[in-house]
Amino acid sequence: MTTRNSSLALKWPRDAADGTLSAGADAADAFVRMSGVNLTYGGPGGIAAVDDLTLSVRKGEFAAVVGPSGCGKSTLMKLATGLVIPQAGSIEVDGAPVTGPLNIVGMAFQNPSLLPWRQVLGNIMLPLEIVSPHRQRLKRDRAEYVAKAEAILNLVGLEGFGSKFPWQLSGGMQQRCNLCRALIHEPGLLMLDEPFGALDAFTREELWGVIRDLHQAKRFTVILVTHDLREAVYLADRVFVMSSRPGRVLVERQIPFERPRPIDLTFTGEFNDIVHELRGTIAEARADKVAMV
Ligand SMILES: Nc1ncnc2c1ncn2[C@@H]1O[C@H](COP(=O)(O)OP(=O)(O)O)[C@@H](O)[C@H]1O
Ligand SMILES: [Mg+2]
Repeated sequence: MTTRNSSLALKWPRDAADGTLSAGADAADAFVRMSGVNLTYGGPGGIAAVDDLTLSVRKGEFAAVVGPSGCGKSTLMKLATGLVIPQAGSIEVDGAPVTGPLNIVGMAFQNPSLLPWRQVLGNIMLPLEIVSPHRQRLKRDRAEYVAKAEAILNLVGLEGFGSKFPWQLSGGMQQRCNLCRALIHEPGLLMLDEPFGALDAFTREELWGVIRDLHQAKRFTVILVTHDLREAVYLADRVFVMSSRPGRVLVERQIPFERPRPIDLTFTGEFNDIVHELRGTIAEARADKVAMV
């Protein structure tokens, strides 16, 4: 392999070869750290989205955030990636304060929003046209970047689909492309905001397997926002339950199942016990909201 090739080699951390991570993250070994964060939209007297939000996510950890609708989950995502800046509190990613949009982040939302006039390959290579240092290298090293894009398509089971247009793909395939686009620049942090919410149950479970395997292979840090508790418990090392708005972390639940996790795990009693436990916590969070109205 030439030096130039190796500069494009996968650089994600692979510190936990067996895929397990120790319990009890604290702020000291955090990759993402939020402390006492307040965010009110529209200035004083506006909408307090999160209040005293504190959480830490370790490098390579898969974290899930669940909570009532409108409690500030998407706001948490925007705060962690520097798309909004809080009025109070501190946010650090990879040891540095977040003062504006971060380029070490890949994001995927419920709507894949692929550009309809671009083929799959052109869509998933889009971040490379924007994010440094790829932007400067893309023209020179195009063939290597295309090979990398094709490799990641293979990883998500879309081998040979690079020249298709988005409208030629199913919803599940489009969401796979969305994941590839979020990961093409090898971000250290992957933010997923209800990415599987619009998919049918079978496709959603397929995609769980895809994201599980990608995380296992690349060991990037993940924050997944979801309203699906089974999804959270199946995928995450730790689940954070948020209160109703203004959101803060009510409960932090370590998920003890070892990896790799077969999908059959989701039918076991132990798995369902944790899902029920979290459901109870969310019901309390929502009742709290009702009581406050
Ligand atoms: N740009 C914005 N301007 C004003 N209010 C907003 C904005 N974004 C979100 N909100 C409000 O902040 C609250 C939290 O929103 P959000 O973080 O999207 O919640 P969730 O993702 O948990 O459903 C909601 O009441 C929402 O209406
Ligand atoms: Mg949201």
